[in-house]
Amino acid sequence: MAIALTFLLLLLSLDFSSSLPIPLGSTLHASSDRNHSWYSPNSAFSVSFIPTATPGSFLSAVLFSNTVPIWSPGTVDSGGSLRLLRSGSLRLVNSSGATVWESGSENEGVTSASLEDSGNLFLRSRKNTTVWSSFAHPSNVIVPTQPFTVGKSLRSGSYSFHLTEEGSLNLKWNNSVVYWSQELINNNSSSNLSSPSFVLERNGVASIFDSSVGVMVVSVRSSDYGEGEEGVFRFLKLEEDGNLRIFSVSKGGEIQTQTWVAVADQCQVFGFCGNFGICRYDGFVPTCECPSVNFVPIDVNDMRKGCKRKVELEDCRGNEGMLDLNNTRFLTYPPELSTQRFTLGTEACRANCLADSLCFASVLMADGSGVCFQKLSGLVSGYKSPSVPSTSSLKVCKPVSPYSTVEKSDERLLIRALIIALVVIATRDETVDMEQVTRMVQASFWCIQKHPSQRPSMGKVVQMLEGIIEMAKPLAPNALADIRDTENS
Ligand SMILES: *[C@@H]1O[C@H](CO)[C@@H](O)[C@H](O)[C@H]1NC(C)=O
Ligand SMILES: *[C@@H]1O[C@H](CO)[C@@H](O)[C@H](O)[C@H]1NC(C)=O
Ligand SMILES: *[C@@H]1O[C@H](CO)[C@@H](O)[C@H](O)[C@H]1NC(C)=O
Ligand SMILES: *[C@@H]1O[C@H](CO)[C@@H](O)[C@H](O)[C@H]1NC(C)=O
Ligand SMILES: *[C@@H]1O[C@H](CO)[C@@H](O)[C@H](O)[C@H]1NC(C)=O
Ligand SMILES: *[C@@H]1O[C@H](CO)[C@@H](O)[C@H](O)[C@H]1NC(C)=O
Ligand SMILES: *[C@@H]1O[C@H](CO)[C@@H](O)[C@H](O)[C@H]1NC(C)=O
Ligand SMILES: *[C@@H]1O[C@H](CO)[C@@H](O)[C@H](O)[C@H]1NC(C)=O
Repeated sequence: MAIALTFLLLLLSLDFSSSLPIPLGSTLHASSDRNHSWYSPNSAFSVSFIPTATPGSFLSAVLFSNTVPIWSPGTVDSGGSLRLLRSGSLRLVNSSGATVWESGSENEGVTSASLEDSGNLFLRSRKNTTVWSSFAHPSNVIVPTQPFTVGKSLRSGSYSFHLTEEGSLNLKWNNSVVYWSQELINNNSSSNLSSPSFVLERNGVASIFDSSVGVMVVSVRSSDYGEGEEGVFRFLKLEEDGNLRIFSVSKGGEIQTQTWVAVADQCQVFGFCGNFGICRYDGFVPTCECPSVNFVPIDVNDMRKGCKRKVELEDCRGNEGMLDLNNTRFLTYPPELSTQRFTLGTEACRANCLADSLCFASVLMADGSGVCFQKLSGLVSGYKSPSVPSTSSLKVCKPVSPYSTVEKSDERLLIRALIIALVVIATRDETVDMEQVTRMVQASFWCIQKHPSQRPSMGKVVQMLEGIIEMAKPLAPNALADIRDTENS
């Protein structure tokens, strides 16, 4: 009886929020009806589940202040759980019992887990040696005192962050294209590093430590560095948009501010708009669009997925043409920088590409160097801006159909839509939603802007009409005047 009671008490204790150490056999459930957490002694950090933006999906994570994820093994559905198995392995399973993630530390003598005041989740053996720790297996965040060494990486989709043996920091796309790199400031070429380690200090300044060289400087620091070391929690995160940022969070977790960003110009993040996607600024917001009428979006609701040719090149051999894109540069970063480089003039650049069956895109850098890149493989990531002097060309199946000012027939359709809207307003049925009518009129004005670059994407038009996004006041379109002229003559 006494034994049974002790056993029952033990079982119950396993299901309660626990401070350290976390005994083998403990389980955290994703669903809110059995919502509990494992806490660090100072209560600043917890291991828990939080709902994600997708309904019914939960993120398993080490959280700062119960809200900010600093490490995560993945997401599961509401029936999922995080289990510290008796074998000593930590395992994330979904409701079907399938393993989503596993620490791989079974049969290594793990006796307990503990979440330390730094936010590091440990699995330790009887001799108190560390078998596994979350700091040594980062997901997409680095927190103060967490050493980031050569061979480790932060990952988010196709993007990753690395430290090289030479002490440089890199952001890579698809493990290959380096679109951001930060070298040591006091690089001393006469001394080689032995085992560099990148660390973000609590005060918001990052440095590189090396056992043979000492402390070195990198220009990575939060704009509020040195301020309120005690009241502010800072962390470095590789986000889903391929950018690396430092955030400063108030102790309670309520206020989260971006205090540093690696790639100041988001359009320079390789592949931000997917394959054949062109990135440009709509105000301060980076926006993705397709290169021409020869292309269609892969997903109209998510322009970041990129575009595809309406007709593939293999279906029109011998009938290809070059589509010229003014003020547009296809991003060229190492390693392709060195392999697909030629010195040619504009005409020769596009003619060579047209003649070469392997070439599908070319870009002439209008920086006086006369350097021309021809793309034979990989992803085309475009950047368009009036300040970009380059001209890029894409091989497409004829006819080459650049976006032009709106076709006359389209203008007539739009005008008709406007007239219908005005008639509806004039007859004033009380069920008319004036806000909807205003949105419709404004959206159609945006669609007939003279400059294609000022016109919104279809996805955006839908969002405008549904009132999901705020609409800025459009310029009075010249097309209206043109149409009046044609209608009068
Ligand atoms: C667990 O409880 C906290 C606070 O009560 C809440 O914010 C969180 O959303 C809950 N988690 C789940 C998965 O419902
Ligand atoms: C659990 O994961 C497995 C393997 O990935 C998957 O086949 C299954 O559909 C998942 N179950 C749920 C309920 O998500
Ligand atoms: C186990 O190791 C950790 C870190 O090395 C230390 O903080 C802790 O006091 C040790 N625990 C015991 C019981 O020795
Ligand atoms: C340091 O300088 C040397 C020589 O200038 C250069 O080859 C090396 O790439 C530099 N390393 C870093 C990490 O900046
Ligand atoms: C640094 O490494 C290079 C190549 O491994 C070697 O040639 C050079 O002598 C080393 N320099 C020092 C100071 O150890
Ligand atoms: C570079 O490293 C060498 C060897 O470690 C050292 O003697 C020299 O003072 C260093 N130079 C600078 C500018 O730090
Ligand atoms: C691109 O620029 C050239 C030269 O300035 C010009 O002739 C051409 O019309 C422009 N193309 C487009 C689509 O604006
Ligand atoms: C990503 O890299 C892999 C391996 O290098 C390559 O096979 C693949 O084609 C690349 N993906 C894209 C979209 O270029």
